[in-house]
Amino acid sequence: MLAILTVIGTRPQFIKAAAVSQALRTRSNLREIIVHTGQHFDDDMSRQFFDELDIPTPTYSLDIHGGAHGEMTGRMLQEIELVIGKVRPDLVLVYGDTNSTVAAALAAAKMRVPVAHVEAGLRSFDRSMPEEVNRIVTDHISGLLFCPTRAAVANLRREGIVAGVTHVGDVMYDMTQRAAALVKQKSRILERLALRPNSYAVATVHRAESTDEPDKLARIFMWLAERAVERPVIMPLHPRTRLAMERAAVNTGALRMIDPLGYLDMTALVQNAAAVYTDSGGLQKEAYFHRVPCITLRTTTEWVETVEAGWNRLWTEPPNDTPRREIDDYGDGLAALRIVEAIESAR
Ligand code: UD1
Repeated sequence: MLAILTVIGTRPQFIKAAAVSQALRTRSNLREIIVHTGQHFDDDMSRQFFDELDIPTPTYSLDIHGGAHGEMTGRMLQEIELVIGKVRPDLVLVYGDTNSTVAAALAAAKMRVPVAHVEAGLRSFDRSMPEEVNRIVTDHISGLLFCPTRAAVANLRREGIVAGVTHVGDVMYDMTQRAAALVKQKSRILERLALRPNSYAVATVHRAESTDEPDKLARIFMWLAERAVERPVIMPLHPRTRLAMERAAVNTGALRMIDPLGYLDMTALVQNAAAVYTDSGGLQKEAYFHRVPCITLRTTTEWVETVEAGWNRLWTEPPNDTPRREIDDYGDGLAALRIVEAIESAR
């Protein structure tokens, strides 16, 4: 029996881990133990995802959130080390690029426990982003690197990482496929917000690079408010953005702010939108999964194929007149299964 310690802490990690956790549960030779670092802690950022996506209750809840990046990451490193000491896992499984990811990867590497990284190899080539630092460090200390795209494999190769690298596809695509079948029965979000399909846009903003400078935040909101003159723009608000907006007293024009949504409601909202405006990595791709054009509120993107295929553009670039085409990088909805098979065969 192989013991796998999954460490998650933020909203997008719950979604990705849901796919893999379900695949792990089909194997009698694998046992998953879940640690929730506590990085995201509001019910609508955390608990509702566990309920809705049927993720097992974490065995360890560390309740670590807030504070400076170093403080948060340091406290996580310390606590995860204790958990690894108790559980003695055969593998530590981490997702994405957050402080929870890098803390868990470091704790494992220092205790000589192999690390598997889901969503390995993504790069924005902007080291001022905390996520970029987290990704680079995590990739360089991981033994199994599961890449969502070919560009991610190539990024790793350029950094000299070739062993243990597999292009498995995107676990978020697995989840989108699963959700698409459920949203019709389970989501009433369009009725609740009185929206007609294809008549509105969805916007999200949460990254430090967008929220931390009042001028930048004001510029983003001015741009979004201009879009809201053309058609309704619905904006589920991340707690950090709500705080930053209050601090900077930004003008939101006709934007419609709502509380953060669960996964199925968000899927329904994006699926039926005419456009997506976002600084989130995950949402850029989800927009493509539903074939909704996206404008990314950043100057870089890790999901370069969405731009190359004409579905996405950076808001600082002129309109993308590339003819839209399909992207074959993200797999066939079986990325989680491939990850589990690779873990089994790496024993
Ligand atoms: C983190 C990740 C980011 C990821 C995002 C997903 C890092 C460096 N960043 O950013 O890569 O895209 O998660 O959403 O790890 N807060 C609440 N309630 C919550 C969650 C957060 O009030 O449930 C507050 C925090 O206390 C903090 C702020 O929001 O003041 C930012 O949270 P934090 O976890 O530091 O980073 P995110 O912006 O969520």
